[in-house]
Amino acid sequence: MDMKYILSGDNGFDDGEQTVYDVVVVGAGVAGMTVALELNERFRVALLSKTGINEASTYKAQGGMAVAVGTDDSAERHIVDTLKVGQGLCCQEAVTCLAEEGLDALEFLLRQGVEFNRRNEGFDLTREAGHSRYRVAHYYDYTGRHIAERLEEKVAARKNVQWIKNCFVLEVLTNDERCYGCLAFYSGRLVVFWAKALVIASGGYAGIFADSTNSIAASGDGIAAAYRAGAVLADMEFVQFHPTSFLTPGGGVFLLTEALRGEGAVLRNAAGDRFMTSYHADGELAPRDEVSRAITKETKLSDAPVFLDARHLGKDYLAKRFRQVYTSLAGYGYFLEKDLVPVRPAAHYSIGGIKTDLWGRSSLDALYACGEASATGVHGANRLASNSLLEAVVFGRRVALAIASQPMHEVVFQSLKFLDRRALRRGLDIQNLGVSLNQAAGVIRNGAAMNKLLSSLRQIPNTECEADLLKQYSTANTFQLAELILAAGIARKESRGTHFRSDYPEKDDNCFRRHTIARWGKEVSME
Ligand code: SIN
Repeated sequence: MDMKYILSGDNGFDDGEQTVYDVVVVGAGVAGMTVALELNERFRVALLSKTGINEASTYKAQGGMAVAVGTDDSAERHIVDTLKVGQGLCCQEAVTCLAEEGLDALEFLLRQGVEFNRRNEGFDLTREAGHSRYRVAHYYDYTGRHIAERLEEKVAARKNVQWIKNCFVLEVLTNDERCYGCLAFYSGRLVVFWAKALVIASGGYAGIFADSTNSIAASGDGIAAAYRAGAVLADMEFVQFHPTSFLTPGGGVFLLTEALRGEGAVLRNAAGDRFMTSYHADGELAPRDEVSRAITKETKLSDAPVFLDARHLGKDYLAKRFRQVYTSLAGYGYFLEKDLVPVRPAAHYSIGGIKTDLWGRSSLDALYACGEASATGVHGANRLASNSLLEAVVFGRRVALAIASQPMHEVVFQSLKFLDRRALRRGLDIQNLGVSLNQAAGVIRNGAAMNKLLSSLRQIPNTECEADLLKQYSTANTFQLAELILAAGIARKESRGTHFRSDYPEKDDNCFRRHTIARWGKEVSME
């Protein structure tokens, strides 16, 4: 810690501190904590997180974790449902790992002290869109928060893991296609974390949309840093919109879990009619893209919101089973047993991210990714509800295994010669960009609007700006990710999965059963 590292001189940073770990994991969600817990005590691990657990998307996950544990269920059925919702773009091997390792993932969580609601001898499984079986294990309606709290306690008890909070990772450090750590901003100073392996588990980028169920901390900083360092990204256009978010009077967005519809809540338009059955045979439990699109259309048709109606489920049941949603809505004056609640789609989950293999290995040696930051291929063009907590645990465990089973490189100490590839742009307003993304890259999109926004972003000159370093980085990352969402959205000229292109309304399997790939310095391509 007392050594000074040498900066190459042209990055504008002062000399700072350095520290050495075997493995550095970035992220405070279930994916990062799983990696840290699954690496045994011989590894010195640093867990770096920009925030505490309560800002991570894990903490906000209400519905639960999909796992084929019901007596009428099987991993095969889970695979079929996941592939169907993913609309031909899933990586079948990754989906097989996800479903077949589901029980092990569940047992891992149980060993960490996580509980799930029980019914009779088994789990109290619920249903969500796209699932052919009751398959979602949950803890009331705050499953993610419960998991995060239990894992945090376990991590805190591990002597080999140091959790460094309020630590913002600025750059992934590489040399000759190999990662050797990261540069972070911590406690007002720059720190280099040298590592034999770096794991990006810092979540997705759906938080950069103005309407998002995520916290603003879900701004894809780890993905942007990996991209600048040369890691390949995939499928950045696919952002899943959750159909039922509630806009708070203060302008915040609050998720109303799909489990409400799984347990019988219905959607009504301004005239009070149930409309989903005329859009899809599965009604309110149609895949999320279908429900989001139907809501968008109904809202436009009547120029009024649509409503979630759970009144028939009764206060006793609602207040107990959905205690977090019930209490939060009551705080805004809505009581689920008697009120219709206005809902609308909001950006919820980013499917794109750092492209990895089945072991979380990125295109750069010693750089791994898992959870929402990764693009493992399990979600294809649309994620099956409640597969994300499962993905984070299954692939978090796989990353830990991969690291443990490979000979580790020695730590490389060298002068920092990374290229500062941030786009420094003066006076950019992230909030306005989020609103523009809502409009140009929402549930229904078209090439003209995406091109217009993309070219306006690219025309903003790079200039030195006076804001502090963190503001510079988070602004640069947000703009970088917005450009990638738009460029990938333009490259995929068809309608598949999470969004619909009004100028290319059909699916085009022959030409486009491919993935969008982003590499630093190159235009996004379909491969
Ligand atoms: C929800 O509770 O509706 C969210 C679950 C998910 O996104 O998987």
